[in-house]
Amino acid sequence: MFKLNGKVTDEFDFFKGNDVFDLVKAYGSPLYVYNEGIIRERCRELKNLVSYPKFLAQYSAKANTSLAFLQIVKSEGLHVDAMSPGEIYAELEAGFEPSDIFMITNNVSESEMQFAIDKGILVCVDCLEQLETYGKLNNGGKVAIRFNGGIGAGHHEKVVTAGKKTKFGVNPEYIPQVKEILKKYNLKLVGVQQHIGSLFMEIDPYIEGSRAILDIAKNFDDLEFVDFGGGFGIPYKKLSGQPRLNLKECGEKLDKVFESFVKDYGKEITFRIEPGRYISAESSVLLTDVHCVKYNGPHKFAGTDVGFNVLVRPAMYDSHHDIEVYAKEARPVNEEEITIVGNICESGDIIAKDRLLPEIKAGDILGILDAGAYGHSMCSNYNNRLRPAEVFIRENGEAVLTRKRDTLEQLLENYVKLDL
Ligand code: LLP
Repeated sequence: MFKLNGKVTDEFDFFKGNDVFDLVKAYGSPLYVYNEGIIRERCRELKNLVSYPKFLAQYSAKANTSLAFLQIVKSEGLHVDAMSPGEIYAELEAGFEPSDIFMITNNVSESEMQFAIDKGILVCVDCLEQLETYGKLNNGGKVAIRFNGGIGAGHHEKVVTAGKKTKFGVNPEYIPQVKEILKKYNLKLVGVQQHIGSLFMEIDPYIEGSRAILDIAKNFDDLEFVDFGGGFGIPYKKLSGQPRLNLKECGEKLDKVFESFVKDYGKEITFRIEPGRYISAESSVLLTDVHCVKYNGPHKFAGTDVGFNVLVRPAMYDSHHDIEVYAKEARPVNEEEITIVGNICESGDIIAKDRLLPEIKAGDILGILDAGAYGHSMCSNYNNRLRPAEVFIRENGEAVLTRKRDTLEQLLENYVKLDL
C-alpha cells in the first residue's frame, strides 16, 4: 500500500503493519477499522482527568455500542451510561455489572424503566412526570434527576442539549415540585446530572455549566454524586493542524470547581463525567473503495461505497472528517479539489465537499478518519444496503473481526409477507 497523505494514521501507527487492501479484501468495503491501543489511551486520559479522588468516568455508549468496544472500556475500569434497554443489554453482555451502568432516560416508557429497575440499574429521569412514574414503579428506591442548568454548547444546534430551546432536563424552577414527588414516593435522590451538548474544544462552557448544575445540587442534602455529562471534543481537522482539547487545563479547572463545592456542601461526593466521542472518535478509520471518478461540469467526484447509511455525520450535521488516500502502487501526489460521495440515491449523499486532496483514482481506498464516534452506531440499512463489518487491530497488531457485515437474509428476517 502507498499512502498519498497518511500523516495522521502514520503518527498514530494506526494500522500496525496491516495493509488496508488486504483488510478490505478479507472483510469487504466499507469497513470500520479500530485501533485498540487508542481506545485504551483515551480511557486512561479521562480516568485520570482530575486529582480529586472521588471521580468516575462513565463511557457514553451511544457513541459506539460495539461489544468489543464495550469490553475494552470495561477492562479499563470505566463505567457506562445507557439510554435504552438495548444499550443495557449490550453492556451486560460485554461484562459490565448493573452497578457500573447508569441509565439516563429521555421520554421512556414504563416498561423501559422497569427493565432497568429489575436489573438493579440506577435510573436518571428528566421531567416531573417521569419522576412520578418512577416513584410509582420503585417506591422507596434510589433515583437521579437530569436538570437543565440553562447553559448549552455543541458543534451543531442539533447536539446542544441544555438551554430553554431543548427538550432535556428539569428546569430548576421546578425544584419545589421535585421535592414533593421525592417525598410522596419516599425516593432517595442520590445524584443530579446534566449534559450541555456534544463537542466543545474550549473548556469554559463546560466549567460554566458545571457551576450551574452544582448550584442546583446545593438544594439537595443527601447527594452521592453530581454528573456533568459528556461533550469533550476531538480535533476533526488534524490534517490542517487543529490542536487537541487541553485536558490538563480542563482537569485543573474542574478540580477547583470540585474543591469549592465540597467546602460549601460539607462532604465529599463523587463527581462523574460521561464522555462518548472523546473515547471513541479517533479509534476508527472507515475504509471505502473508490469505484469511479467522474466530472459534472467543472466538478470532480469520487464515487465510493460510503453512503450516509454508513456514516451519517456529514449529511446530518455538515460534519468534517479528514480523508487519507491509499493507492496500491506509489505515484506522484497531485493535489486537486474533489467531492467524495457515496452510493445512496440522494444528492445529499456527500462525505466531503470540494476537498483539496491528492488525486484520487478508481481502485484506491480512502480512509475516513475519526469515524469511531457516532459512526457505526448511527448506521442504517437505507437503500437496503448492508451495514459494514468491524475489525479491531489489537495491541499486538493482529486484526480481528468483531462484527460481521449484515447479510441479505438479515435485511428481510423481520418482514412478514402478505398472503396474496
Ligand atoms: N451524556 C448524554 C446524556 C448524552 O446525551 C450524550 C450525547 C453524551 C453523554 C455523550 O456526548 P459526547 O461526549 O459523545 O459528546 N450524533 C452526534 C452527537 C450526539 C450526542 C448525543 N448525546 C454526532 O455525531 O456528533
